[in-house]
Amino acid sequence: MPKIKSTVTVIGLGYVGLPLACLISQKGYKTYGLDLKEDSIKKINQKKSPFKDELIAKILPKIDLKATSDPSVLKESDFVIICVPTPVNERHLPVFKPLTSAIESVLENFKKGVTVVVESTINPGVCEEVVLPLFEKKNLKVGKDFFLAHCPERVNPGDPKWNVSNINRCVGGVTDKCLQKSLEFYRSILDATVTPMKSIKEAEATKTIENAFRDVNIAFVNELAKSFDRMGIDLKDVIQGASTKPFAFMAHYPGCGVGGHCIPVDPYYLIEKARRVGFEHDFLKLARRINTGMPRYAVKVLIRELNEIKKAINGTRVGVLGVSYKANVDDNRDAPFYEIKKELLANKAKVEIFDPFIPKDSTVKSLDELLKKSEVLLLVTNHDEFKKVTPKLAKKYGIKLIVDGRNFLPKEDFLKAGIRYKGIGR
Ligand SMILES: NC(=O)c1ccc[n+]([C@@H]2O[C@H](COP(=O)([O-])OP(=O)(O)OC[C@H]3O[C@@H](n4cnc5c(N)ncnc54)[C@H](O)[C@@H]3O)[C@@H](O)[C@H]2O)c1
Repeated sequence: MPKIKSTVTVIGLGYVGLPLACLISQKGYKTYGLDLKEDSIKKINQKKSPFKDELIAKILPKIDLKATSDPSVLKESDFVIICVPTPVNERHLPVFKPLTSAIESVLENFKKGVTVVVESTINPGVCEEVVLPLFEKKNLKVGKDFFLAHCPERVNPGDPKWNVSNINRCVGGVTDKCLQKSLEFYRSILDATVTPMKSIKEAEATKTIENAFRDVNIAFVNELAKSFDRMGIDLKDVIQGASTKPFAFMAHYPGCGVGGHCIPVDPYYLIEKARRVGFEHDFLKLARRINTGMPRYAVKVLIRELNEIKKAINGTRVGVLGVSYKANVDDNRDAPFYEIKKELLANKAKVEIFDPFIPKDSTVKSLDELLKKSEVLLLVTNHDEFKKVTPKLAKKYGIKLIVDGRNFLPKEDFLKAGIRYKGIGR
């Protein structure tokens, strides 16, 4: 049981908010989950996860989490944790509407002394420049009437090792009391280290650089992939070689594109914030450009390989393996698949699609059906199920070529079996 007997509301019950709300409830807090989606709320209250997550499916029947769309639960909440989306618009500019709407709900149902923690990913400055003024407009004083902190979320859906309770966190508060209250709360629910930051801006900046770091490093290996493709060097082998260095090298791998709600989005928050204060992040913009171009590059590789076997893409039956943006999850937000599909159709390929996690975008019901209907394969997502695509199975269905957008399948085995194989940078 927690030391602090309090009521907590998590606003936003998605990939971040729902596991967190489950954890908070497990730790003995009276917990509400507030969301706008009635279908998700219904499922959660029926003790079912609205998205694929085995851990949540197991935990929900054992806890007393109440999901609701009624913001009046905020009137009895001592802690409010905000986990709403922070997307960008078509011009790649931050969209704060879900965040400001969540804050409006808190203000309309204000409880004096509430601690509000933003977990959504935001650029440095958002808590003090966007969130705080909404409270101040109502003459509420931070550190006295309410407490405001930021604790960036680091959860990695689909990761069997790192989960909402064991990942270390950083917390920043507007005032020292804001920091202390949120530190005490997070330390009461996590089995991990919670590090206080000197300011809320530094806490915000932490998450932004973590994801920008990934975007830049992935862009670097994606650029290497294009260069090494021309040189006939296997980049995956090279990265494995470089990884034998015991310090200063960290392996990142090339692929047919980055997706999800984080890496293709968060760097734009930093780019825009810096632009507003007179600094252009050339490096981050270049990384975004390289990574955004990878789905088109994967299709270019396919066209080039088809050419080698004297086939045109026009009319070729291409079986696409995977829709979701990463392995073994049902999250298709910003997935490179959509750009790949668009490119394939623009080049007049006949496209069949299979993703065991995303039936709505699949054109067939099984892996076998996909292989049966395809002449060549393009692997977009490294779902475990696709390990079943062995040289034997590919031969059985007469597959002539595999382009492996995740460098996931055993290249040598396919080549030995006489099936043409090409990865990204290998
Ligand atoms: N998905 C990840 O792997 C991940 C990891 C770390 C951080 N984040 C960050 O966490 C935040 C949430 O991401 P997510 O993947 O959980 O998003 P999500 O879309 O899965 O879930 C967000 C939920 O918030 C709800 N919502 C939106 N506005 C609301 C409002 N005003 N009131 C109540 N509910 C509202 C939506 O209906 C949705 O269910 C984002 O800022 C994201 O960048 C995500």
